[in-house]
Amino acid sequence: MKVTITTNGVTATHDVEPRLLLVHYIRDVLGLTGTHIGCDTTSCGACTILLNGQAVKSCTVLAVQADGGTIQTVEGLARDGQLHPLQEAFWEEHGLQCGFCTPGMLMTALQLLERYPDPTEDQIRHGLEGNLCRCTGYQHIVNAIMSAARKMAGQPARAAAGGGR
Ligand code: FES
Ligand code: FES
Repeated sequence: MKVTITTNGVTATHDVEPRLLLVHYIRDVLGLTGTHIGCDTTSCGACTILLNGQAVKSCTVLAVQADGGTIQTVEGLARDGQLHPLQEAFWEEHGLQCGFCTPGMLMTALQLLERYPDPTEDQIRHGLEGNLCRCTGYQHIVNAIMSAARKMAGQPARAAAGGGR
């Protein structure tokens, strides 16, 4: 089946098998390996991306379900060599250790901050319930998202565009 999907602002058409998962489309067809596979069973959140603006676990969606749609992956966060405020905040607040969960955390956090530009710690922890980290404990990740919210309040254009400009 032919699918046409706009990924990080670039539209492309590919012939894919109907059973192809979106995460495999992203990693194997597009070659965007920042989206990770941690479980393949909708548990870990490492594969989280934005599909038509909604954070989804891309191991749970077929590529054909994204036909005609827009996806954003972690590779779409940085612009013109500049890290997204969320990426900066994870760096500064030590919000990662091995980094395996980080792409999914960032994409979930991106949607969380669109919903709650000034989030409470509870809102962040609730929002991250579908994302597992085996390394850090979650406090540094929560701190990073709080810090990103403050940064993004000073940069409304980037925040509103979901990382785009
Ligand atoms: S790989 Fe998709 S939720 Fe774990
Ligand atoms: S930083 Fe290693 S799994 Fe989260």
